[in-house]
Amino acid sequence: MNFHILTLFPEMIMNGLSTSITGRAMDKGIISVNAVNIRGFSQDKHGHVDDYPYGGGAGMVMQAAPVYRAYEHVMENVGASDSGKSPRVVYMTPQGKVFDQKMAQELSKEEDLIFLCGHYEGIDERVLEMIVTDNVSIGDYVLTGGELPAMVVIDAVSRLVPGVLGSDISAEFESFHDDLLEYPQYTRPEEFMGMKVPEVLLSGHHKNIEAWRLKKSIERTKERRPDLWEKSIHNESK
Ligand code: ADE
Repeated sequence: MNFHILTLFPEMIMNGLSTSITGRAMDKGIISVNAVNIRGFSQDKHGHVDDYPYGGGAGMVMQAAPVYRAYEHVMENVGASDSGKSPRVVYMTPQGKVFDQKMAQELSKEEDLIFLCGHYEGIDERVLEMIVTDNVSIGDYVLTGGELPAMVVIDAVSRLVPGVLGSDISAEFESFHDDLLEYPQYTRPEEFMGMKVPEVLLSGHHKNIEAWRLKKSIERTKERRPDLWEKSIHNESK
């Protein structure tokens, strides 16, 4: 799967994603991350890509032309004109649909995804109208730019791409699978500061362990995320 990110801070994206699991997936060629610097597409001799907002107001707005040229560059790389492919263009914005595991699953089926990261007071609306297919937010708070949100989405999507996690099972038994939170985990030693690992986990009795884990998942979801628990009940009754 190929991620293309249009950004003013490509090093932020590359530094953030080239460690740990996403970094290993990049090394193995299972995913690719191509951060494209929008500033490289400025036609201004000082490399400016922003200007004052029409109508006045605080801050600067990113101009349409450099964003559009950066987008065209990525589309050429993807081979869009030859193949007729038209990858989704995800604009990271607090005005978007709130990202969740279901959206991660849907996006993980794409071969190429283009992310557009804004800064300052946003991006000229005209280029957004032309290229954006999906407006996505990572939550109801405002960050200084779209880079961290894009990395959050890329991380969550990448781990669903086959081969990125050690085993395909790990992505299955986790928080939000079936709308339940994950059960608690323990590892050695059996006793830590007087606290013991629950007996059932040492029993080797797989049926009992499974039942215990489901019970804990349910308890935890009811207690910590009553909203998810409601959703989970409704899904089951379908
Ligand atoms: N850009 C700034 N804040 C954001 C958010 N919460 N989600 C996505 N993009 C953003």
